[in-house]
Amino acid sequence: MKEKNVAEILKSDSVLQEIALKGWVRTFRSNRFIALNDGSTIKNIQCVIDFENTDEETLKRITTGAAIAIKGTIVESQGRGQTVEIQVSEITILGDSNPDEYPIQPKKHSFEFLRENAHLRTRTNTFSAVMRVRSKLSFAVHKYFQENDFNYVNTPIVTGSDAEGAGEMFRVTTFEDNKAPLTEDGKIDFSKDFFGKETNLTVSGQLEAEAYAMSLGKAYTFGPTFRAENSNTTRHLAEFWMIEPEVAFMDLDGNMDLAEDFIKSVINDVLENCKDDLEFLDQRLTQEEKSKPQAQRSEMSLLEKLRFVADNNFKRVSYTEAIDILRNSKPNKKKKFQFPINEWGADLQSEHERFLVEKHFKCPVILFDYPANIKAFYMRLNDDGKTVRAMDVLFPGIGEIVGGAQREERYDVLIDKMKAMNIDEKELWWYLDLRKFGSAVHSGFGLGFERLVQFTTGMGNIRDVIPFPRTPQNAEF
Ligand code: 4AD
Ligand code: MG
Repeated sequence: MKEKNVAEILKSDSVLQEIALKGWVRTFRSNRFIALNDGSTIKNIQCVIDFENTDEETLKRITTGAAIAIKGTIVESQGRGQTVEIQVSEITILGDSNPDEYPIQPKKHSFEFLRENAHLRTRTNTFSAVMRVRSKLSFAVHKYFQENDFNYVNTPIVTGSDAEGAGEMFRVTTFEDNKAPLTEDGKIDFSKDFFGKETNLTVSGQLEAEAYAMSLGKAYTFGPTFRAENSNTTRHLAEFWMIEPEVAFMDLDGNMDLAEDFIKSVINDVLENCKDDLEFLDQRLTQEEKSKPQAQRSEMSLLEKLRFVADNNFKRVSYTEAIDILRNSKPNKKKKFQFPINEWGADLQSEHERFLVEKHFKCPVILFDYPANIKAFYMRLNDDGKTVRAMDVLFPGIGEIVGGAQREERYDVLIDKMKAMNIDEKELWWYLDLRKFGSAVHSGFGLGFERLVQFTTGMGNIRDVIPFPRTPQNAEF
């Protein structure tokens, strides 16, 4: 007898075949119908028990959440809602689930409640769908880069450099509580620490990826990154996964083309390969939207949004043009922005990004050529001396999904910039070497994987698209 998973059973049309399967009980009704789910698909399979020939004790143990093994025959279903079902000949309880204690009842739970039960929440339709899409998306990411001759590079998690110069890092140390040795001037003496220097969890693999681009030509990272920023928002995590391609001899225009092509490609991939899950998530979002006031509802369903992004060009707009649009916008004039836009040079907040994307352009937007002093040290200075070749990709409902730049490849300009921004040249000697030996134009970007999963699944909170979220005050599981 062949063991099959539910996805395989539902795909095959071999009725009257004898099979074995295992899974978790979603519901059990009339002492007869088990809705069984094994995680292979959003769909349950109905397993019909011959209750007259099943002992009372076993029937009692078929409860929501229990793990069971079934042997039986695939038959055409008499009932509505499914085409085939399993006529059970043998049932074994593998693991009981006490219905008085099991947190995941067959009813609607709030996402907050499910976050507190993140170890069990993938037993629900929404979270199993989200995590299957997440898995398929990561495969699509690798597929895209591998098919386009990029090399996957694993950059270090523990680093001595602050790639973003933002100082929001988690320190890595083996010093014991209150026992860190001090230097003469009373500072912690990291030369005596494990690595012989101050080290932190990486905020980005970019700088190391640049070294690989400047030898292998095309490189990409896909790994965990860490930010100790105290942002309690629906779009920030303290630990998130970032995808960072980096390409030698590519300028900012090429970088924009790459970002757009990459995002469209992975979205098309999941549209093709996650149909059932996306249809479910599309319905879920439509239901959720119904509870909002008409004016706040999205004009498009999830699937429409995904197709829209896959099929339409992203709008490319310079920072300077964006500032003009924002300055003259209704919310700015009516003082509706929390941070009013008065002059060129202002940093854009998510309210501004969302206005541009959702109200003004109504499509994904790539903003480029930002003021130098609101961006990181490594971005290439334009001839105007005040803007840099930076780009951010902004998405509806998400805001910034990609941040990238053409890198400063000129040694002297980079040194000046580092001095002006207080970046330690000694620490980044190796990064400067890349400008001394065979330097060339190169560019890359970072895409926050969870923000991509959020967009693709229509989930409102970033904590609901990563298995075990890390946020301020929370490292449970
Ligand atoms: O804009 P960021 O900070 O850029 C960098 O780190 C560059 N070194 C990337 C590069 O050019 N290689 O971060 C890139 C992206 C953001 O656009 C956002 O999608 C995501 O990473 N991101 C976060 N996602 C979740 N939680 C956070 N706290 C995030 N911070 C950034
Ligand atoms: Mg950014």
